[in-house]
Amino acid sequence: ETAAQHAAFEARIERGEKIEAGDWMPAEYRRQLIRMISQHAHSEVVGMLPEGEWIASAPTLKRKTILMAKVQDEAGHGQYLYHAAETLGATREGMIDALLTRRAKYSSIFNYPTTSWADVGMIGWLVDGAAIKNQTMLAGASYGPYSRAMVRICSEETFHHKQGKEMIVAYAVGTPAQREMAQDALNRWWWPALMMLGPHDADSPNTGIMSKWGVKLKTNDEVRQEFINEHAPELLEAGLTIPDPDLHQDEQGNWKHGPIDWTEFWAVIKGERGLGAERLATRQAAHDDGAWVREALQAYTDRQRAVAAD
Ligand code: 3HC
Repeated sequence: ETAAQHAAFEARIERGEKIEAGDWMPAEYRRQLIRMISQHAHSEVVGMLPEGEWIASAPTLKRKTILMAKVQDEAGHGQYLYHAAETLGATREGMIDALLTRRAKYSSIFNYPTTSWADVGMIGWLVDGAAIKNQTMLAGASYGPYSRAMVRICSEETFHHKQGKEMIVAYAVGTPAQREMAQDALNRWWWPALMMLGPHDADSPNTGIMSKWGVKLKTNDEVRQEFINEHAPELLEAGLTIPDPDLHQDEQGNWKHGPIDWTEFWAVIKGERGLGAERLATRQAAHDDGAWVREALQAYTDRQRAVAAD
């Protein structure tokens, strides 16, 4: 890689040009994008697990069909993102192997248990709400296939977000049992949702290069601030209590949160706390159960090739 190639590449980023799959790019740009996009895809697929558990227990047919649609959407988001990573030369097998051998991560948020039906609503409101802030930012990313995947994903996330908020607001003004269920869900999902957007900028080793190369247009703390500024007033307006005694608005109107427990964040990511082991075991079982499909496809492809060669 020559200095001239780097200079030309960075001039393209400066001009706001999209980098496409066949364009020259620094190896580190490619590596970073495969890292980020494949982990995003893993997050979407693992993210189906906590909510999928509740499809059979949905309280009404309406809630069941909404949840089924949402979980199916997440599977589709995973597919778009695995394909986006494949445009950079990553293979599906390689990415799945990295996930199953814990060399790749997925979002910490999905290692938390869903212990009540209201969690489905709170995930839609907070988790998809945080995802929308992050993914709207990534829709402007310099890598074409990723930014275009984000545009499609954000439009579907908006439905996920709205249905979650509508559900929780209904419970927050419902019976005492519903109000208590909504508050209990907020108590368990508020801090994990803040952590989901990544470590503080000072502790974010990738943000610098990802911002320089136009992938992350905002830092973790900037996206987190956007998330809190939208959701704190709405949760309070719904009559819920946010489990952060230090939360307050500053003179600029930004909601300032109390200290985040990053020990919990890293323990959850490593699987030392929460459901990391269970999530990976479920993904491993799905991979093993699907082996026969991969073998059949390979046998069919081999036979087609043999016939074509004759
Ligand atoms: N969970 C797990 N790992 C996390 C994390 C989280 N919430 N936040 C950060 N990390 C990891 C990073 O991956 C990195 O580790 P790595 O170098 O081994 O990959 C390390 O912690 C340091 O973090 P950085 O801030 O330096 O990493 P990034 O610059 O990549 O920023 C990020 C982290 C903001 C999550 C960024 O990777 C990103 O925007 N990713 C794309 C979006 C995404 O993956 N979202 C996950 C949720 S998907 C979802 O919510 C689906 C929706 O439908 C519900």
